[in-house]
Amino acid sequence: MKKPASLLGNKNKFLILGCGYSGSFFAKTVRKFGCSVLTSSRSICSDPNSFVFDSENYMVPDENTFDGVTHILSCIPPDKNGKDPVLRSLKNKLKSLPLEWVGYLSTTGVYGDTKGAWVSEIDEPNPFQRRSHKRLNCEKEWIESGLPVQIFRLPGIYGPGRSTFEAIKNKKIRVIYKKNQIFSRIHVADITNAIIYLLQNKNSLKFYQVINIADDEPCSQIEVIQYCYNLLGLTMPKPILFKDAQEELSPIAKSFWMENRRVSNKLLCETLGYKLIYKNYKIGLKNCYLKS
Ligand SMILES: NC(=O)c1ccc[n+]([C@@H]2O[C@H](COP(=O)([O-])OP(=O)(O)OC[C@H]3O[C@@H](n4cnc5c(N)ncnc54)[C@H](OP(=O)(O)O)[C@@H]3O)[C@@H](O)[C@H]2O)c1
Repeated sequence: MKKPASLLGNKNKFLILGCGYSGSFFAKTVRKFGCSVLTSSRSICSDPNSFVFDSENYMVPDENTFDGVTHILSCIPPDKNGKDPVLRSLKNKLKSLPLEWVGYLSTTGVYGDTKGAWVSEIDEPNPFQRRSHKRLNCEKEWIESGLPVQIFRLPGIYGPGRSTFEAIKNKKIRVIYKKNQIFSRIHVADITNAIIYLLQNKNSLKFYQVINIADDEPCSQIEVIQYCYNLLGLTMPKPILFKDAQEELSPIAKSFWMENRRVSNKLLCETLGYKLIYKNYKIGLKNCYLKS
């Protein structure tokens, strides 16, 4: 990505709340733009740019952490009661800051099951899973907070270190076939770059509060697994029918198969003009393969 002419630079200070897989990728990338970045984790670590935040154990950052903060990205899922952990612990603090922007990573699970049809931001959310009801509740909390929040709805996140290759390597792969079942996905680099693109072009683009970040080609899981086996030069195990496999699946794994939708990225990629780095799983998985 080209260095921006303005808007992101050393005057900006980001707090990344919940610096897991996506948060770390984002932190690493915005640092390259000269921004200062502090990241949270639930346990103490030796990184001087990391601070402890654990809403369950009432561990909140000290006052100094918030000095000069201009941007916040929350990557923390809902708590067990369906409340947003950040707003529960830090809403008043965040509201007292002169924030330019707050990003919240949500999920496309809020759309529920569309039986394989395309779904976009103008469609009313229709959550099916309990966790998706909780997520929609958190989205509402963020919108009602009055903070300058932008919500990013994400499908399955993959990237280096977290892809089908790891599942194959760790022998955790299950090749399951369910007729007409489709999944949407997004490479972690596109989450980061899409958000940076929107921030860089904030002054010229219309503001949308809810944006899907998904790739161009939702497809079956078998296609993805087959592609990985081909790249590895290995033979894919024979697929098991979903009806035969479901007994052995964990409740969470099984729940992913209960919803079937194609997530549209037209708002992001056509209306707002973001160009995906990894338009489909093939390009994205080649990147994972080369980095593994
Ligand atoms: N994974 C997917 O395929 C997927 C798909 C769609 C949406 N999402 C959502 O997108 C967001 C980012 O996903 P990800 O996979 O990058 O997340 P991740 O790697 O699981 O990271 C989540 C972060 O949240 C922190 N956290 C969790 N509960 C917390 C609490 N009560 N208080 C403080 N911190 C807490 C974790 O802290 P520690 O670092 O201490 O563990 C971790 O840093 C999440 O909200 C996730 O649910 C994920």
